[in-house]
Amino acid sequence: MKELLFLLLVTMEASRSDGSRCELGCECRGDLRFTICSRALFSQLPGRIPPTTELLDLSDNNISFIPERSFSKNRKLRVLLLQNNNISLVEDGGFSQLEFLQKLDLSWNRISSLTRGFSLGLTLLRELQLAHNSLTSLDSQSFLHLDGLQRLNLSSNSIHTIHVRAFSSMSTLRQLHLEDNQLTSLKSGIFSMLRSLEVLNLAGNRISETEVGVFKPLTSMTLLNLATNRMSSIYFKTFLNIHTYSTHILLEENPWNCDCDLQRVFRKLRSIQRLFLDDYYNLTCKEPPVIKDYRLMDVDSELCIAETVTVLIITVTVVITVLAAMLMGERKRKKKKRGKHWTQQADLSDESDY
Ligand SMILES: *[C@@H]1O[C@H](CO)[C@@H](O)[C@H](O)[C@H]1NC(C)=O
Ligand SMILES: *[C@@H]1O[C@H](CO)[C@@H](O)[C@H](O)[C@H]1NC(C)=O
Ligand SMILES: *[C@@H]1O[C@H](CO)[C@@H](O)[C@H](O)[C@H]1NC(C)=O
Repeated sequence: MKELLFLLLVTMEASRSDGSRCELGCECRGDLRFTICSRALFSQLPGRIPPTTELLDLSDNNISFIPERSFSKNRKLRVLLLQNNNISLVEDGGFSQLEFLQKLDLSWNRISSLTRGFSLGLTLLRELQLAHNSLTSLDSQSFLHLDGLQRLNLSSNSIHTIHVRAFSSMSTLRQLHLEDNQLTSLKSGIFSMLRSLEVLNLAGNRISETEVGVFKPLTSMTLLNLATNRMSSIYFKTFLNIHTYSTHILLEENPWNCDCDLQRVFRKLRSIQRLFLDDYYNLTCKEPPVIKDYRLMDVDSELCIAETVTVLIITVTVVITVLAAMLMGERKRKKKKRGKHWTQQADLSDESDY
Protein backbone atom coordinates (compact mmCIF):
# COMPACT_ATOMS: atom_id res chain seq x y z
CA MET A 1 0.00 0.00 0.00
CA LYS A 2 2.83 2.33 0.98
CA GLU A 3 4.70 1.43 -2.18
CA LEU A 4 1.68 2.14 -4.31
CA LEU A 5 1.28 5.55 -2.70
CA PHE A 6 4.95 6.28 -3.29
CA LEU A 7 4.62 5.29 -6.94
CA LEU A 8 1.59 7.53 -7.29
CA LEU A 9 3.48 10.46 -5.72
CA VAL A 10 6.44 9.92 -8.05
CA THR A 11 4.14 9.81 -11.07
CA MET A 12 2.34 12.95 -9.95
CA GLU A 13 5.63 14.72 -9.37
CA ALA A 14 6.87 13.68 -12.79
CA SER A 15 3.75 14.88 -14.51
CA ARG A 16 3.86 18.17 -12.59
CA SER A 17 7.43 18.86 -13.58
CA ASP A 18 6.51 18.18 -17.17
CA GLY A 19 3.42 20.34 -16.63
CA SER A 20 5.42 23.24 -15.28
CA ARG A 21 7.09 23.62 -18.62
CA CYS A 22 3.80 23.22 -20.44
CA GLU A 23 1.11 25.88 -20.60
CA LEU A 24 -1.98 25.16 -18.53
CA GLY A 25 -4.58 23.62 -20.80
CA CYS A 26 -1.96 22.13 -23.10
CA GLU A 27 -0.49 18.71 -23.18
CA CYS A 28 3.17 18.26 -23.90
CA ARG A 29 4.35 14.95 -25.28
CA GLY A 30 7.23 13.18 -26.94
CA ASP A 31 10.11 14.88 -25.13
CA LEU A 32 8.34 18.21 -25.50
CA ARG A 33 8.32 17.97 -29.25
CA PHE A 34 4.53 17.93 -29.48
CA THR A 35 2.40 20.53 -27.75
CA ILE A 36 -1.32 19.94 -27.99
CA CYS A 37 -3.50 22.86 -26.94
CA SER A 38 -6.63 22.03 -28.88
CA ARG A 39 -9.97 23.13 -27.31
CA ALA A 40 -8.25 24.94 -24.46
CA LEU A 41 -10.45 28.05 -24.67
CA PHE A 42 -7.50 30.32 -25.48
CA SER A 43 -8.49 33.74 -26.74
CA GLN A 44 -4.89 34.65 -27.48
CA LEU A 45 -1.69 32.80 -28.24
CA PRO A 46 -0.37 31.08 -25.09
CA GLY A 47 2.99 32.33 -23.82
CA ARG A 48 4.66 29.21 -22.54
CA ILE A 49 5.18 26.83 -25.40
CA PRO A 50 8.32 24.72 -24.90
CA PRO A 51 11.02 25.96 -27.31
CA THR A 52 11.65 22.37 -28.36
CA THR A 53 8.13 22.08 -29.83
CA GLU A 54 8.01 20.92 -33.44
CA LEU A 55 4.25 20.41 -33.67
CA LEU A 56 1.95 22.95 -32.07
CA ASP A 57 -1.77 22.27 -32.18
CA LEU A 58 -3.86 25.32 -31.29
CA SER A 59 -6.93 24.28 -33.22
CA ASP A 60 -10.46 24.87 -31.90
CA ASN A 61 -9.70 27.84 -29.71
CA ASN A 62 -10.90 31.43 -29.88
CA ILE A 63 -7.69 33.19 -30.89
CA SER A 64 -8.47 36.29 -32.95
CA PHE A 65 -5.13 37.92 -33.62
CA ILE A 66 -1.57 36.88 -34.57
CA PRO A 67 0.82 39.70 -33.54
CA GLU A 68 4.16 40.36 -35.21
CA ARG A 69 6.91 37.82 -34.42
CA SER A 70 4.53 35.69 -32.37
CA PHE A 71 6.62 32.57 -32.48
CA SER A 72 10.09 33.98 -31.86
CA LYS A 73 10.67 31.42 -29.07
CA ASN A 74 9.49 28.48 -31.17
CA ARG A 75 11.82 28.46 -34.10
CA LYS A 76 11.83 24.67 -34.30
CA LEU A 77 8.18 24.49 -35.33
CA ARG A 78 7.48 22.31 -38.34
CA VAL A 79 3.72 22.05 -38.06
CA LEU A 80 1.45 24.81 -36.76
CA LEU A 81 -2.27 24.13 -36.51
CA LEU A 82 -4.53 27.13 -36.00
CA GLN A 83 -7.69 25.95 -37.72
CA ASN A 84 -11.07 26.70 -36.20
CA ASN A 85 -10.20 29.87 -34.34
CA ASN A 86 -11.49 33.41 -34.80
CA ILE A 87 -8.40 34.87 -36.47
CA SER A 88 -9.16 37.97 -38.53
CA LEU A 89 -5.78 39.65 -38.42
CA VAL A 90 -2.27 38.38 -39.03
CA GLU A 91 0.18 41.23 -38.51
CA ASP A 92 3.03 41.62 -40.98
CA GLY A 93 5.73 39.17 -39.98
CA GLY A 94 3.35 37.20 -37.74
CA PHE A 95 5.07 33.96 -38.71
CA SER A 96 8.40 35.47 -39.76
CA GLN A 97 10.54 33.48 -37.31
CA LEU A 98 9.33 30.11 -38.51
CA GLU A 99 12.02 29.27 -40.97
CA PHE A 100 11.53 25.50 -40.59
CA LEU A 101 7.75 25.51 -40.76
CA GLN A 102 6.42 23.04 -43.32
CA LYS A 103 2.69 23.07 -42.67
CA LEU A 104 0.46 25.94 -41.57
CA ASP A 105 -3.24 25.39 -41.11
CA LEU A 106 -5.34 28.54 -40.86
CA SER A 107 -8.57 27.12 -42.22
CA TRP A 108 -11.93 27.98 -40.64
CA ASN A 109 -10.96 31.47 -39.51
CA ARG A 110 -12.03 34.96 -40.54
CA ILE A 111 -9.02 36.17 -42.52
CA SER A 112 -10.12 38.66 -45.18
CA SER A 113 -6.80 39.76 -46.63
CA LEU A 114 -3.24 38.54 -46.99
CA THR A 115 -0.77 41.37 -46.78
CA ARG A 116 2.74 41.46 -48.13
CA GLY A 117 4.15 40.58 -44.70
CA PHE A 118 1.91 37.59 -44.15
CA SER A 119 4.27 35.10 -45.76
CA LEU A 120 7.49 36.73 -44.59
CA GLY A 121 10.06 34.15 -43.52
CA LEU A 122 8.04 31.11 -44.50
CA THR A 123 10.54 29.97 -47.09
CA LEU A 124 10.31 26.25 -46.32
CA LEU A 125 6.53 26.12 -46.07
CA ARG A 126 5.13 23.28 -48.16
CA GLU A 127 1.46 23.30 -47.24
CA LEU A 128 -0.80 26.25 -46.52
CA GLN A 129 -4.41 25.66 -45.58
CA LEU A 130 -6.63 28.73 -45.84
CA ALA A 131 -9.99 27.17 -46.67
CA HIS A 132 -13.13 28.63 -45.10
CA ASN A 133 -11.91 32.16 -44.57
CA SER A 134 -13.20 35.49 -45.92
CA LEU A 135 -10.67 36.24 -48.64
CA THR A 136 -12.11 38.21 -51.57
CA SER A 137 -9.04 38.84 -53.70
CA LEU A 138 -5.49 37.63 -54.13
CA ASP A 139 -3.03 40.35 -54.99
CA SER A 140 0.50 40.27 -56.30
CA GLN A 141 1.98 40.22 -52.77
CA SER A 142 -0.26 37.67 -51.07
CA PHE A 143 2.14 34.75 -51.42
CA LEU A 144 5.32 36.66 -52.09
CA HIS A 145 7.72 34.65 -49.92
CA LEU A 146 6.29 31.18 -50.38
CA ASP A 147 8.89 29.94 -52.83
CA GLY A 148 8.71 26.29 -51.78
CA LEU A 149 4.98 25.86 -51.42
CA GLN A 150 3.53 22.65 -52.83
CA ARG A 151 -0.07 22.66 -51.68
CA LEU A 152 -2.31 25.70 -51.36
CA ASN A 153 -5.89 25.30 -50.23
CA LEU A 154 -8.04 28.39 -50.72
CA SER A 155 -11.36 26.63 -51.06
CA SER A 156 -14.59 28.10 -49.63
CA ASN A 157 -13.56 31.73 -49.51
CA SER A 158 -15.20 34.55 -51.49
CA ILE A 159 -12.39 35.13 -53.97
CA HIS A 160 -13.56 36.97 -57.08
CA THR A 161 -10.33 38.59 -58.22
CA ILE A 162 -6.89 37.08 -58.78
CA HIS A 163 -4.11 39.45 -59.70
CA VAL A 164 -2.13 38.29 -62.69
CA ARG A 165 1.01 38.02 -60.55
CA ALA A 166 -0.57 36.48 -57.44
CA PHE A 167 0.95 33.03 -58.00
CA SER A 168 4.09 34.25 -59.71
CA SER A 169 6.56 33.01 -57.08
CA MET A 170 5.11 29.52 -56.92
CA SER A 171 6.99 27.47 -59.44
CA THR A 172 6.98 24.42 -57.12
CA LEU A 173 3.24 24.43 -56.40
CA ARG A 174 1.60 21.08 -57.12
CA GLN A 175 -1.94 21.54 -55.90
CA LEU A 176 -4.08 24.64 -56.05
CA HIS A 177 -7.52 24.40 -54.53
CA LEU A 178 -9.79 27.28 -55.45
CA GLU A 179 -13.09 25.44 -55.31
CA ASP A 180 -16.19 27.16 -53.94
CA ASN A 181 -15.19 30.74 -54.53
CA GLN A 182 -16.70 33.48 -56.71
CA LEU A 183 -14.47 33.57 -59.75
CA THR A 184 -16.33 34.58 -62.92
CA SER A 185 -13.59 34.47 -65.52
CA LEU A 186 -10.08 33.15 -65.96
CA LYS A 187 -7.67 35.64 -67.48
CA SER A 188 -4.63 34.55 -69.45
CA GLY A 189 -1.49 34.81 -67.35
CA ILE A 190 -2.84 34.06 -63.88
CA PHE A 191 -1.33 30.55 -63.90
CA SER A 192 1.69 31.47 -65.96
CA MET A 193 4.39 30.41 -63.45
CA LEU A 194 2.73 27.23 -62.22
CA ARG A 195 4.73 24.79 -64.29
CA SER A 196 4.74 22.12 -61.54
CA LEU A 197 1.02 22.32 -60.90
CA GLU A 198 -0.66 18.92 -61.07
CA VAL A 199 -4.09 19.59 -59.60
CA LEU A 200 -6.13 22.70 -60.36
CA ASN A 201 -9.51 22.65 -58.70
CA LEU A 202 -11.88 25.41 -59.81
CA ALA A 203 -15.16 23.65 -59.15
CA GLY A 204 -18.05 25.54 -57.61
CA ASN A 205 -17.23 28.99 -58.92
CA ARG A 206 -19.17 31.19 -61.39
CA ILE A 207 -16.80 30.86 -64.28
CA SER A 208 -18.40 31.55 -67.63
CA GLU A 209 -15.36 32.70 -69.57
CA THR A 210 -11.91 31.23 -69.92
CA GLU A 211 -9.38 33.04 -72.04
CA VAL A 212 -7.90 30.83 -74.72
CA GLY A 213 -4.34 30.75 -73.34
CA VAL A 214 -5.07 30.45 -69.63
CA PHE A 215 -4.17 26.75 -69.19
CA LYS A 216 -1.25 26.79 -71.61
CA PRO A 217 1.56 27.20 -69.03
CA LEU A 218 0.29 24.27 -66.94
CA THR A 219 2.45 21.62 -68.51
CA SER A 220 2.32 19.24 -65.52
CA MET A 221 -1.42 19.36 -64.96
CA THR A 222 -3.06 15.97 -64.50
CA LEU A 223 -6.44 17.13 -63.17
CA LEU A 224 -8.48 20.17 -64.11
CA ASN A 225 -11.79 20.44 -62.31
CA LEU A 226 -14.24 22.95 -63.77
CA ALA A 227 -17.42 21.26 -62.60
CA THR A 228 -20.30 23.33 -61.21
CA ASN A 229 -19.57 26.60 -62.93
CA ARG A 230 -21.50 28.77 -65.39
CA MET A 231 -20.04 27.70 -68.69
CA SER A 232 -22.53 27.39 -71.53
CA SER A 233 -20.00 27.04 -74.31
CA ILE A 234 -16.25 26.52 -74.66
CA TYR A 235 -13.57 27.18 -77.21
CA PHE A 236 -11.81 24.16 -78.58
CA LYS A 237 -8.53 26.08 -78.51
CA THR A 238 -8.70 26.68 -74.74
CA PHE A 239 -8.31 22.94 -74.20
CA LEU A 240 -6.17 22.22 -77.22
CA ASN A 241 -3.70 24.58 -75.51
CA ILE A 242 -3.22 22.13 -72.63
CA HIS A 243 0.17 20.69 -73.51
CA THR A 244 0.54 17.85 -71.05
CA TYR A 245 1.22 14.17 -71.15
CA SER A 246 -2.25 13.35 -69.86
CA THR A 247 -4.94 15.46 -68.20
CA HIS A 248 -8.31 14.55 -66.75
CA ILE A 249 -10.93 17.25 -67.13
CA LEU A 250 -14.20 17.54 -65.23
CA LEU A 251 -16.98 19.68 -66.69
CA GLU A 252 -20.29 18.50 -65.27
CA GLU A 253 -22.91 20.73 -63.65
CA ASN A 254 -22.45 23.53 -66.13
CA PRO A 255 -25.39 25.11 -68.01
CA TRP A 256 -24.40 23.84 -71.46
CA ASN A 257 -26.00 25.38 -74.51
CA CYS A 258 -26.27 22.25 -76.61
CA ASP A 259 -25.98 23.53 -80.13
CA CYS A 260 -24.11 22.23 -83.11
CA ASP A 261 -21.00 24.26 -82.19
CA LEU A 262 -20.80 22.66 -78.75
CA GLN A 263 -21.26 19.23 -80.25
CA ARG A 264 -18.40 19.88 -82.66
CA VAL A 265 -16.10 21.17 -79.92
CA PHE A 266 -16.72 18.12 -77.78
CA ARG A 267 -16.28 15.76 -80.70
CA LYS A 268 -12.89 17.29 -81.41
CA LEU A 269 -11.90 17.37 -77.74
CA ARG A 270 -12.74 13.72 -77.30
CA SER A 271 -10.47 12.84 -80.15
CA ILE A 272 -7.43 14.37 -78.44
CA GLN A 273 -5.50 11.46 -76.98
CA ARG A 274 -3.96 13.25 -74.02
CA LEU A 275 -7.23 14.70 -72.70
CA PHE A 276 -9.75 12.65 -70.74
CA LEU A 277 -13.23 14.10 -70.36
CA ASP A 278 -14.06 11.84 -67.42
CA ASP A 279 -17.59 13.06 -66.87
CA TYR A 280 -18.60 13.60 -70.50
CA TYR A 281 -21.43 11.11 -70.05
CA ASN A 282 -22.81 13.23 -67.21
CA LEU A 283 -22.97 16.58 -69.01
CA THR A 284 -26.51 17.90 -69.34
CA CYS A 285 -28.03 20.64 -71.48
CA LYS A 286 -29.56 23.83 -70.11
CA GLU A 287 -30.34 25.38 -73.50
CA PRO A 288 -32.15 25.25 -75.87
CA PRO A 289 -35.38 24.72 -73.84
CA VAL A 290 -36.59 21.73 -75.88
CA ILE A 291 -33.67 19.61 -74.73
CA LYS A 292 -33.24 21.05 -71.22
CA ASP A 293 -31.92 18.41 -68.78
CA TYR A 294 -31.13 16.00 -71.59
CA ARG A 295 -27.69 14.50 -71.49
CA LEU A 296 -25.39 15.90 -74.13
CA MET A 297 -24.37 12.41 -75.22
CA ASP A 298 -28.01 11.48 -75.86
CA VAL A 299 -28.69 14.41 -78.16
CA ASP A 300 -25.30 15.03 -79.62
CA SER A 301 -25.87 13.10 -82.83
CA GLU A 302 -28.94 15.25 -83.51
CA LEU A 303 -27.53 18.65 -82.66
CA CYS A 304 -26.14 19.23 -86.07
CA ILE A 305 -29.12 17.64 -87.86
CA ALA A 306 -31.19 20.79 -87.50
CA GLU A 307 -28.30 22.67 -88.95
CA THR A 308 -27.90 20.15 -91.77
CA VAL A 309 -31.62 20.36 -92.47
CA THR A 310 -31.46 24.14 -92.56
CA VAL A 311 -28.52 24.01 -94.91
CA LEU A 312 -30.40 21.50 -97.04
CA ILE A 313 -33.52 23.63 -97.13
CA ILE A 314 -31.50 26.66 -98.11
CA THR A 315 -29.69 24.71 -100.80
CA VAL A 316 -32.91 23.30 -102.18
CA THR A 317 -34.52 26.73 -102.13
CA VAL A 318 -31.60 28.24 -103.94
CA VAL A 319 -31.58 25.47 -106.53
CA ILE A 320 -35.33 25.79 -107.06
CA THR A 321 -35.06 29.56 -107.40
CA VAL A 322 -32.23 29.28 -109.87
CA LEU A 323 -34.05 26.60 -111.85
CA ALA A 324 -37.23 28.64 -111.79
CA ALA A 325 -35.37 31.69 -112.95
CA MET A 326 -33.74 29.73 -115.75
CA LEU A 327 -37.08 28.26 -116.76
CA MET A 328 -38.72 31.66 -116.74
CA GLY A 329 -35.89 33.04 -118.78
CA GLU A 330 -36.19 30.23 -121.26
CA ARG A 331 -39.92 30.75 -121.50
CA LYS A 332 -39.54 34.45 -122.01
CA ARG A 333 -37.00 33.88 -124.73
CA LYS A 334 -39.30 31.44 -126.46
CA LYS A 335 -42.20 33.83 -126.09
CA LYS A 336 -40.11 36.64 -127.48
CA LYS A 337 -39.05 34.43 -130.39
CA ARG A 338 -42.60 33.42 -131.01
CA GLY A 339 -43.65 37.04 -130.68
CA LYS A 340 -41.08 38.01 -133.30
CA HIS A 341 -42.37 35.21 -135.49
CA TRP A 342 -45.90 36.51 -135.14
CA THR A 343 -44.93 40.04 -136.02
CA GLN A 344 -42.92 38.78 -138.94
CA GLN A 345 -45.90 36.86 -140.12
CA ALA A 346 -48.07 39.88 -139.52
CA ASP A 347 -45.64 41.95 -141.55
CA LEU A 348 -45.81 39.41 -144.29
CA SER A 349 -49.57 39.39 -144.26
CA ASP A 350 -49.50 43.14 -144.25
CA GLU A 351 -47.33 43.05 -147.28
CA SER A 352 -49.58 40.55 -148.95
CA ASP A 353 -52.57 42.82 -148.34
CA TYR A 354 -51.13 45.29 -150.68
C1 LIG B 1 -14.18 37.04 -32.84
O1 LIG B 1 -13.36 38.20 -32.85
C2 LIG B 1 -14.06 39.40 -32.93
C3 LIG B 1 -13.04 40.52 -32.98
O2 LIG B 1 -12.15 40.33 -34.03
C4 LIG B 1 -15.00 39.57 -31.77
O3 LIG B 1 -15.75 40.73 -31.92
C5 LIG B 1 -15.94 38.35 -31.74
O4 LIG B 1 -16.74 38.44 -30.56
C6 LIG B 1 -15.15 37.09 -31.70
N1 LIG B 1 -16.04 35.95 -31.78
C7 LIG B 1 -16.12 35.06 -30.84
C8 LIG B 1 -17.06 33.91 -31.07
O5 LIG B 1 -15.46 35.13 -29.83
C1 LIG C 1 -9.02 21.96 -48.24
O1 LIG C 1 -9.65 22.40 -47.07
C2 LIG C 1 -10.90 21.79 -46.79
C3 LIG C 1 -11.47 22.43 -45.55
O2 LIG C 1 -10.58 22.37 -44.49
C4 LIG C 1 -10.71 20.29 -46.63
O3 LIG C 1 -11.95 19.67 -46.41
C5 LIG C 1 -10.07 19.73 -47.86
O4 LIG C 1 -9.79 18.37 -47.66
C6 LIG C 1 -8.78 20.46 -48.15
N1 LIG C 1 -8.22 19.95 -49.38
C7 LIG C 1 -6.94 19.61 -49.52
C8 LIG C 1 -6.55 19.00 -50.79
O5 LIG C 1 -6.13 19.79 -48.63
C1 LIG D 1 -21.95 10.93 -63.01
O1 LIG D 1 -23.03 11.24 -62.17
C2 LIG D 1 -23.36 10.21 -61.24
C3 LIG D 1 -24.61 10.64 -60.50
O2 LIG D 1 -24.59 12.01 -60.16
C4 LIG D 1 -22.16 9.99 -60.29
O3 LIG D 1 -22.45 8.96 -59.41
C5 LIG D 1 -20.95 9.63 -61.13
O4 LIG D 1 -19.83 9.54 -60.29
C6 LIG D 1 -20.70 10.69 -62.17
N1 LIG D 1 -19.62 10.24 -63.04
C7 LIG D 1 -18.52 10.95 -63.21
C8 LIG D 1 -17.50 10.35 -64.10
O5 LIG D 1 -18.35 12.03 -62.67
